[in-house]
Order: sequence, then structure tokens, then C-alpha cells
Amino acid sequence: MVIAGLVLFLLTVVASTLILGPNKIISWVTQTPKNVTTLTASEVWEAPALSQLQEGETKKLIVYGRELIVNTAAYLGPNGSVMAISNGMNCQNCHLDAGTKLFGNNYSAVASTYPKFRARSGAEESVEKRVNDCFERSLNGKALPEESNQMKAIVAYINWLGKDVAKGTIPKGSGLIELPFLDRSASIENGKLVYEQKCTVCHGNEGAGITLADDSGYLYPPLWGQNSYNMGAGLYRLSRFAGYVKANMPLGATFDSPQLTDEEAWDVAAYVNSLPRPQRDLSADWPNISQKPIDHPYGPYTDGFEEAQHKLGPFKPIREKQKELSAAK
Ligand code: HEC
Ligand code: HEC
Repeated sequence: MVIAGLVLFLLTVVASTLILGPNKIISWVTQTPKNVTTLTASEVWEAPALSQLQEGETKKLIVYGRELIVNTAAYLGPNGSVMAISNGMNCQNCHLDAGTKLFGNNYSAVASTYPKFRARSGAEESVEKRVNDCFERSLNGKALPEESNQMKAIVAYINWLGKDVAKGTIPKGSGLIELPFLDRSASIENGKLVYEQKCTVCHGNEGAGITLADDSGYLYPPLWGQNSYNMGAGLYRLSRFAGYVKANMPLGATFDSPQLTDEEAWDVAAYVNSLPRPQRDLSADWPNISQKPIDHPYGPYTDGFEEAQHKLGPFKPIREKQKELSAAK
């Protein structure tokens, strides 16, 4: 027992050292997030294997699509070989393992649920439109032409990933985890401390990330500043950021082996999203303002709460109020 414990401890130390460098050993907290306690291995989504595909044009397109998700910057970044339409980040920076990781913002539910109505735009969106939302917001760039070979490849890959998911269903492990709301508002000050202890080593003091030696993209992507996602991106919502980092950051974390407490995840989200980033005209978003998500950081709202509370919480009172309002309808 003692020896096994010691070996486990040493392995943990070695693993932390490899990931974080010798002086940055983090606490190895293991908690089960509330909304995933009921998952069993047989229920969760599993991505299909590329090796299932027969050689041919379809496979080529799908493989190219995957490559564009993984190395977006090399093709479509500021020095991209195809066209310069995005900020140097890769789709994979947020859609981990090429969009296949459980609760790593994977693409499992795209083929089964699109085209679909989205309240943000107030319109029905195709997969192409949704992909371009991320180009224009998360990659703070321009839309990829829908008829381009690159768009066809990305869509072919994403649809192939979800090909075994029944139409209209959302598999377990899809998207991001939903963290329980805190009873307090998220703290920018606490979040700064979390950032300094657990994020700076890769994302840098200024949140600017670390570029690759040949400047073709990032080794560690930026979290704020001019090369980061803009204020219209999904991660700019506190719950999306907190859910993303809880199950995925620091690098190596998973939904069933997270490294941050819920409080740390909410607070670091508050800190990062309090810092400067590219602007975007959001005046066309949420044409029906009553459908804005609780943590949409810009008013006007129909629930009477201030922008500050929609940004940082506490969110429970807003949720209660919204329930009342929809019951009264
Ligand atoms: C900065 C992080 C970030 C980057 C980079 C990013 N995305 Fe996203 N993406 C998100 C978030 C956050 C969501 C919404 C998740 C949610 O609302 O639960 C999302 C959603 C999506 C969806 C819809 C998923 C669904 O199940 O409805 C697609 C498709 C998508 N992104 C494609 C892309 C593509 C293609 C790229 C690269 C061009 C990209 N994204 C880059 C953060 C990012
Ligand atoms: C060991 C290095 C490392 C540490 C430590 C780390 N990250 Fe990351 N982070 C990465 C890498 C690498 C990616 C991109 C993953 C990919 O492309 O597969 C990433 C991606 C991200 C992204 C999405 C992409 C973006 O740039 O917006 C966010 C948000 C993020 N990290 C937040 C954090 C936070 C918050 C912490 C601290 C709690 C943290 N990370 C700690 C390496 C790290």
C-alpha cells in the first residue's frame, strides 16, 4: 500500500513537472462536476476513427478538414498559406483534440442538430454559418467563403464526426460542462491569483501566449489582448469560460480529473474576461432580448438586473427572476 502510494505520488510529481516545469507543482484536486456524476463509460460519445474511411476523395476532404481545425493558423492565420482571415489561433485551441474530447467543446452534436434556430442571430443557422461565427468571433477574423474548398472540408469533417449520432439528439459528453452557480459573484481579485499560480507558465504574464518559433501560430494561445477572441465570442460568457477551463485547463485536466475547484474556475474566468480584448459590433445579436443567456454581458435585459451582475453573478437570483417571468407569460 505504502509503496503503491509513493509510486503514485512520484508519478504525479513527474507528470506535473513535465507539464508545468519544476517550480510549478499544482495541487492535484479531483472532484466530480455536478452534472456529470451520472455518466457511465458506455453512454458517452466516442469519435469515429479515420481508419474506418476508405481511401478516396471523401477521405481526403475529411482529413483536410481535420487538418484545418488542428492547424488553422498555418492555412488561414495572419501568415496563412491559403488566405489571411483569422488571428493566429487554431479551432483546436478551444475544440480540443480536433473537436473530439469529451467536454472539451467537441463537435459531436453538430451534424445531429444543425441547421437549427439560434437565438443569438434570431435566424436558422447552417453548419457553415456556425463555423463562420467562430471565425468572426473566436478567431476575431473574417468569414471563410462558403463555397471554398476549406469550408467544404471543415464541414465534411465536422459532419463525419457526428455521423453516428441520431438526428435531433445531443450525445453525453458533448460541448462544455455546466458548472453549478456560486452563491457570490465571481472575484476578479481571486481569479488573478489563480491565473498567476496556474496559467501564467503557459499563457504568459500579459496573457499573450507564446508563439511558435517560425511565427506560423501559437504554442500556447493568447487569453486576452489584440490576438485573442473578441467580446462577441462564446468564451467571453463567464459560464462558457468557467466550464471550458474546469474540464480542460491547466493543460491535461479532464472532466473526470479536473485541476481547478469550481470557485477557481469561475474566478479565473472573471479575471481573464475583465482584461482588454478586440471589440465587435454586437447590435444585431439577440434580436429578442428576453432570450439572452444569464451571463450575456451586455444589456438591455428584460429581467431588471444590471449588466455588472449579468457579467459576474451572482446568477441564482437572475435565474429565479427569469423563471418567474416565463411562468407569468
Ligand atoms: C476561443 C475559443 C474558440 C475557438 C478558437 C473556436 N471556437 Fe468554435 N466554439 C467556441 C465556443 C465557446 C462554442 C460554443 C459552446 C457553447 O455554447 O456551449 C463554439 C461552438 C462552435 C460550434 C457549434 C457547436 C455546437 O455543438 O453547436 C462549431 C461548429 C464551431 N464552434 C466551430 C469552430 C471552428 C470551425 C473553429 C475554427 C475556425 C472554431 N470553432 C474556433 C469556442 C471557440
Ligand atoms: C501547460 C500549459 C498550460 C497551462 C498551465 C494552461 N494552459 Fe490553457 N492552454 C494551453 C494550450 C496548449 C492550449 C491550446 C490547446 C490545444 O490547442 O490543443 C490552451 C488553451 C486555453 C484556452 C482556449 C484558447 C484560448 O487561447 O482562448 C483557454 C481559455 C485557456 N487555455 C485557459 C487557461 C487557464 C485559465 C489556465 C489556468 C487555470 C490555463 N489555461 C493553463 C496550455 C496551458
